[in-house]
Amino acid sequence: MQPLGQYPNPSHTIAHVSDTHLLAGGKLQYGVVDTVQHLEIALDRLGRLDPAPQALVFTGDLADRGEPEAYRQLREMVEPFAERIGAQVVWCMGNHDDRAAYARGLYDAEATSDVLDRVHDVDGLRIVSLDTSVPGYHHGEISDAQYEWLAAVLAEPAPHGTFLAMHHPPIPVPMLPAAAIIELDDQPRLAEALAGTDVRMILGGHFHYSSYSTFAGIPVSVASATCYLSDIAPKARFISAIDAEQSVNMVHVYGDSVVTSVVPTHDSAEISGYGIDVAPLVEALSFEERREMFSRKDSDFNRHEADPIVGT
Ligand SMILES: [Fe+2]
Ligand SMILES: [Fe+2]
Repeated sequence: MQPLGQYPNPSHTIAHVSDTHLLAGGKLQYGVVDTVQHLEIALDRLGRLDPAPQALVFTGDLADRGEPEAYRQLREMVEPFAERIGAQVVWCMGNHDDRAAYARGLYDAEATSDVLDRVHDVDGLRIVSLDTSVPGYHHGEISDAQYEWLAAVLAEPAPHGTFLAMHHPPIPVPMLPAAAIIELDDQPRLAEALAGTDVRMILGGHFHYSSYSTFAGIPVSVASATCYLSDIAPKARFISAIDAEQSVNMVHVYGDSVVTSVVPTHDSAEISGYGIDVAPLVEALSFEERREMFSRKDSDFNRHEADPIVGT
């Protein structure tokens, strides 16, 4: 659709999905959550977007128990979808993932215990997938060797700058104190490593709720999970997981700004709306006609705002 406001269309459109926690063989997470079905619903929702995302970034905890079969299923679900919409897929390791099964299952690589960092070029936007996992633990770390590697990658700026995708977000977790126990270690060192680089956005997961911050002046966006949500205002509970309100994030990149938006992935009843057939009619109006129709409070359009659904 042509822009209807002051800004041109974004240069890049990225979908940010996190914490799919797939389980093999139809197992349900906590005996309740159908993680495969929840991912299907999320992909279906992403498939409705126009323009389609140019990249699907998965920020870790892809497989709940690191099962090879879960990675196979994840790939079978995501790769054909990505191909259909013309998107690249960016995987990140999470604390629930298993390096050997992840490497074999997602990259057809030799099973390895080495860190699984990758660099992707999405039409001039560099996306660095950083493996913050620690085998056998849930907290996050970045090794000396990874810092050296990252410095070499970032030494040369990318045409549209760099996004850092990592499971453990380098921000405080005030709404889920338990998660602070398993946060990324030594965050000041990462701040130093990013100073003066072209990193313009950090995408993370791990918390199972949406959160936003800045880190060393860089915007940070944490996507919630597609599997279950951390209830961050529970009643008399230290931690509480709920099978509700799952979401993914959309990230739109503009010349000098980045916009993130939470997309709920489960359908709810529509209470008002207009059909897509209205879009070309709106586009065809002049700036003045649009202002009169949509901004003027007593226009025909606004006088009918309480009407039931119009269009198809
Ligand atoms: Fe998770
Ligand atoms: Fe996690």
